[in-house]
Amino acid sequence: QHIAVAIDGPAASGKSTVAKKLAKLLGLNMVNTGAMYRAVVWGALQKNVSPNDPAAVVAMLSDFDFECKINQGSSEVWVDGQLLESELRSDAVNANVSAIAAIVEVRELLVAKQRGLLQYGSVIMEGRDIGSVVFPDTPYKLYIDASEEVRAARRAADGEVDAVGKRDAQDSKRKVSPLIVADGATVIDSSEMTLEEVIEAAVAALTA
Ligand code: CDP
Repeated sequence: QHIAVAIDGPAASGKSTVAKKLAKLLGLNMVNTGAMYRAVVWGALQKNVSPNDPAAVVAMLSDFDFECKINQGSSEVWVDGQLLESELRSDAVNANVSAIAAIVEVRELLVAKQRGLLQYGSVIMEGRDIGSVVFPDTPYKLYIDASEEVRAARRAADGEVDAVGKRDAQDSKRKVSPLIVADGATVIDSSEMTLEEVIEAAVAALTA
């Protein structure tokens, strides 16, 4: 039986870095679900579909060539036969991803794919709704937080234009699968912690 470790938290809280390290340490597949929402935005922009027009986005989904697979222990997203990497971190994608992530049909499609990835092995999956919606029954749930100032500084240090505060407000206020601390999740506030300290706290929580 494969297990799922859920890691949720707001933008730039460090959850991707923590998830990657933990996945290596524990020998689990690592799945970045934000990349999937980002891929839908990228596809929409590519096809001149407005991410702010839910009906148009839903129409696009009916023949959307989207694939998510595990390669060498990490998730990859492919749209129209193209592997997407740095494309997913563009300013335009950052600015439009919360709008697309609020569309029910987009979430249904991606949540089904996320659950399906468990067939390839145990996973560490990071996102916003993994502990609350995707794998609510897993006993392994972390919520990685950090103050808004720290998160904005981390994103700026990555050289990205990203209104993290605005994205968090949108992600927390949406009706469908809002960002919340899932039942049973251990909250780790990483604002004043080094990466090593966060990993230590995460391992302690998961093995408790
Ligand atoms: O890396 P960062 O924390 O900036 O964001 P991300 O994990 O790449 O997620 C980008 C956006 O996708 C979020 O702001 C959410 O709007 C959406 N998302 C979501 O709604 N549910 C998920 N499980 C993952 C991401």
